[in-house]
Order: sequence, then structure tokens, then C-alpha cells
Amino acid sequence: MAATLFRRARLATLADPAGGLGLVDDGAVLVRGGRIAFAGPAADLPADAASGAEPVDCGGRLVTPGLIDCHTHLVHGGERSNEFEMRLAGAAYEDIARAGGGIVSSVRATRAASDDSLLQGALARLDRLIAEGVTTVEVKSGYGLDLPTEARMLRAARRLGAERDVAVVTSFLGAHALPPEARGDRGAYVDRVAGEMLPALHAEGLVDAVDGFCEGIAFSPAEIGRVFDAARRLGLPVKLHADQLSDLGGAALAARHRALSADHLEHCSEAGAAALAEAGTVAVLLPGACYFLREERRPPVGAFRRHGTRMAVATDYNPGTSPLTSLLMAANMAATLFRLTVAESLAGITREAARALGLLGDRGTLVAGKWADLAIWDVEHPAELLCRMGFNPLHRRVRRGVPS
Ligand code: NIG
Ligand code: FE
Repeated sequence: MAATLFRRARLATLADPAGGLGLVDDGAVLVRGGRIAFAGPAADLPADAASGAEPVDCGGRLVTPGLIDCHTHLVHGGERSNEFEMRLAGAAYEDIARAGGGIVSSVRATRAASDDSLLQGALARLDRLIAEGVTTVEVKSGYGLDLPTEARMLRAARRLGAERDVAVVTSFLGAHALPPEARGDRGAYVDRVAGEMLPALHAEGLVDAVDGFCEGIAFSPAEIGRVFDAARRLGLPVKLHADQLSDLGGAALAARHRALSADHLEHCSEAGAAALAEAGTVAVLLPGACYFLREERRPPVGAFRRHGTRMAVATDYNPGTSPLTSLLMAANMAATLFRLTVAESLAGITREAARALGLLGDRGTLVAGKWADLAIWDVEHPAELLCRMGFNPLHRRVRRGVPS
């Protein structure tokens, strides 16, 4: 079996049980069959273990796990710079949404877009993430809100993983907004999401997890509960856009359903933070949306730390509230806006992002047995990855042991 030895590497394994970076100054990563056979101090590598392996000299560069963006809406039609201008003039996101803009305006554009334009648009955005060392990305539906368009979005998401050397994980977000043709009949739409759309999309193999938007302008906890019950009957994991604009108890709802993650959380209460920790549900912080909407509330990071709630960080790329295709910039914002430490921010886009997708068993840290997904950086100190803005120091990305 082909083997590669990445040597003279400064490792940040992110595998420190105490939550640190797991720094190893003179490190090595031995890869066999696409998986990590050894990662740690070069001096601990058994002398004969690497015999015959092709050496790759990392030149003392920092090597981290490949980055993981665990919350994106990469597939959509159209763009929403008009809403950006409206907000600059003083309009609120919720007012724009209630007036038929917001998510529903992306729904109109997505329904009108061809399959090819959905794919090409998403590929251009995905390429920006990949160029920064992303090796796994989550992609949601939720701008179709009818079965044919939700299916087209999820098929486009699957295609992304075939067109590029990246792992794509899909989430069905039928409960994102009420589509115009539902004419206010919320119950009937939720029934359709849970009883028709989800089973059909699942039968086509398009759904890795089920997501929802629990908010005054979207769906109530009871409505989301019905969608989550349907997910459970199909054996699918769930996650939730929770407590972004108000506290509807979204975090507690996600915890009750043993969700993989609860995302946004600017209005999450202390009790919500505790419930997430108890359920093992990851808090996914999305500072891009917080910044772009000029939200004044911050997620309760102090409460997350006190209760031991795991924190991931993602771009939440979407055309309306976070048109951000830089995961490093999201990590920078998590540090500057939310006061995460360097170790927390970097763990947020690697280890904790893997956990938020239910994939920590095979990626997210540099540990023997996991996929050899690595990012090799032209920096010495991990803090350099986060402190510079609009700067991409990626030297090489390695997926399943193969450098690109
Ligand atoms: O994650 N919060 C809800 N959904 C998206 C925004 C969607 C939109 O406005 O298009 C988010 O921020
Ligand atoms: Fe989102």
C-alpha cells in the first residue's frame, strides 16, 4: 500500500485532551492508504515504520487537520446586494423578510435557475473555501421549499463532491421559511416537509441530516419538533438554526432532540447553554452573519465555557446574511467579535466542526486511523492563521493523503 511521510512538520494535532492545540515542534505524519498511520514527534516514529514511504519535506511549516466548514448554504440562485443596500439605509433583516425579501427572494431566484447555473455558482464559491484548505464542507438546501427544487439543490450539492476533491455533507432545510404558495397555511407546509419532501429526498439518498430554522420569521418549536420527529423515524440526525434573532428556546429544543448542533445562538440563555452541554450538542458560532447583520448580541461564550458546551465555527455562507467564503475570516471574527481563544477558534474549524457533523470518528484531528486530510501552512505560529485578514497562507492541501 502506497505510503507518504510528511516530515519536518510543526503539527497542531488538535488532539490534546485538555483542549489545547496539541503542538508538536518536530513532527511527522505517516500516511498509508489515505489514512494517518502515525502523527506525532518525529523521534517517536518507529525506525522501520516509514521504510519505503515517499517523503514530503514540510520545511518546518505548520500542519493542521484539513479545515471543515460545517454550516453553509453554498447552492442558490441570484444574489441579494439590494438587501445589503436596504439595510445600510436602515431596514431590518426581519422587516425585509416580512416584506417578501430575505430567504423567499432567494427561493424565487433558485427556482428559476437551471441545474447547471446552480452547480457553477456553487463551484465558484466552493473553490474559495478549498483554496483555504477546506477538505469537508456541509451544504444545505432550503432555497427551494418545494420538492423538485429542494431535490435539485441537494443533487447539486452531491455533484460538488464529485466535481471537486472535497467531502460534501448535505442537510435538508425544508423548514427554512414558509413559501409564498403556502398562503399562510403553516400546518399544511410543515406536514409536506415532514411527510412528503423528507421521505422522498431521503429515498433518493440526498439527505445526511435534517435542519430547521426556529424563529419568529420562520418556524415555531412545535413545528420544528414535527420535522425532527420525522427525521428520527428515518434514522436521520438533526441540527437547528436556533436563537439567532430571539430566544424561542431553540437550544433546549435542539438538545431535547439530541441534535448534532445548534447554530447561531446569539440569544441563547444560560439554561440553553447547559442543555446543549448535557446533550452533547455542539454550539456552532456563525460570526459572519452576526457581523453582516450588525447584531449587537453575542453568543454566550462564557456560559458555553462554564458548562463545557463544545463550540464550532463556520462561515454560514449564504447570499443574504453571510456572503462570506473565507473560513479563516470566520475564525478571525470568532476571536475578535466573540473572544474565542486561538485554540478554541482553530478547534472550531477542525475538531469541533467534525463533531458538529457527527464525523469526529474519522476526521478533525491528526490521530492515527483518521483520514489524512491536512492543511500545510506558510506560517510558524497558529495565531498567524487567525490574526491576518484577507490573507491566505495555505501552502498545500492534502486530502486522503494526496497533496494538491
Ligand atoms: O443561516 N438564519 C437563517 N438562515 C440563513 C439566512 C438565510 C437567508 O437570509 O438567506 C442563516 O443565516
Ligand atoms: Fe444558516
